[in-house]
Amino acid sequence: MKVLIVGGGGREHAIAWKVAKSKSVSEIYCAPGNAGIEQIATCVPIGVMEFEKLADFAVKNQIDLTIIGPDDPLVGGIVDVFEERGLRVFGPRKNAAIIEGSKAFAKELMKKYNIPTASYETFDNADEAEAYLEQSKFPIVLKADGLALGKGVLICNTLEEAKEGVKSIMLDKHFGAAGNKMVIEEFMTGREVSVLAFCDGTNILTMTSAQDHKRAKDGDQGLNTGGMGTFSPSPFYTKEIDAFCQEHIYRPTMDAMKAEGRAFTGILFCGLMLTEDGPKVLEYNARFGDPETQVVLPRMKNDIMEVMEACIDGRLDQIKLEFEDNAAVCVVLASAGYPESYEKGKVISGLEAFQDKDSYFVFHAGTKKTEEGIVTNGGRVLGVTATGSNLLMARQNAYEATSWIQFDNKYMRNDIGHAIDEA
Ligand code: AMP
Ligand code: GLY
Repeated sequence: MKVLIVGGGGREHAIAWKVAKSKSVSEIYCAPGNAGIEQIATCVPIGVMEFEKLADFAVKNQIDLTIIGPDDPLVGGIVDVFEERGLRVFGPRKNAAIIEGSKAFAKELMKKYNIPTASYETFDNADEAEAYLEQSKFPIVLKADGLALGKGVLICNTLEEAKEGVKSIMLDKHFGAAGNKMVIEEFMTGREVSVLAFCDGTNILTMTSAQDHKRAKDGDQGLNTGGMGTFSPSPFYTKEIDAFCQEHIYRPTMDAMKAEGRAFTGILFCGLMLTEDGPKVLEYNARFGDPETQVVLPRMKNDIMEVMEACIDGRLDQIKLEFEDNAAVCVVLASAGYPESYEKGKVISGLEAFQDKDSYFVFHAGTKKTEEGIVTNGGRVLGVTATGSNLLMARQNAYEATSWIQFDNKYMRNDIGHAIDEA
């Protein structure tokens, strides 16, 4: 089988690595890919939003299956374009990817189908949003409706901050058209957990749990980022919590999407908050998480192609997902200054230390091959990942491996997995 992966970050490197282990795969292509993916796949310089060019490439190269990594092309309808051309593709159609593409849609769906989430109101007018804030409790959460690189969420402690937030989202359009509408919702407290699931339109099979660290600095301080590190499994996601979520969140979400004529096929990512009143949905994503994928896929025993094919063919009920009884931790090595401004083009050394090691992985995110060698080419540069027999071992191994890599302005959080000590 010939497989094309669309995307070029750490998530796509982890997907490519897992796809490469499949018995049925003979060749892997990735558009646009990165310097790490290039070591296991043929990278093609086509952008993720160039749907027709990607589809032309798939036809010309007789690609058997295309896997879509990022949110933008999914929300933009890449799956529909591929399907119209008779191409096999893994991911939700545009009418289902809206579960990530519009926070207002996701919230209305949860309300209509009684799926537990924070209480909220939707606004398309800044004056009305401000009037609502006048009689709200703080802290409160403001969310731009559309995609905003994971950064369209503002947690506001005071009325003044919240009014400033409404202005920046709806009037100054800080997140562009994503801010034409906004959701204002109740602030929740608790542990966060990410649960990713394979979906075939009807059936949903969840993978092992993970936890992300969204803030840039130690102690969960600093700005929100794409994710600075992850661990899997979450020790707080117990069997009882899982049973509750299966019954009240995952199954009802699948049924709701089907009932709305938006059957969901692909990866559904449920961002959960484990509150005192039980688990509630923070957000849905219509794709694999980044960097959750980097800790979940190295623990998965199944041949990923078999699972993806079952999703597309609507026979996920015949699959049993299996995960190793171990743990994994991913520490993101970033460029100092991320998520604001940072320098690129720094030569990276030490990558070869990961070769031939079964339980250590270096997933590339922002890297590029040049005449000088592999250089930094983004805010998040590498996802250094290690497995271990338990979370403590995995964390120790991952941090040990971060010292193998050097580049100027290397930055990482030193407390990824701090919650492990509180479990
Ligand atoms: P989202 O993009 O919706 O996942 O939001 C980004 C981050 O903001 C989440 O991972 C949470 O840490 C935080 N967040 C979002 N919604 C809420 C909420 N209602 N209460 C507390 N924190 C929230
Ligand atoms: N790690 C969070 C996300 O992928 O959205």
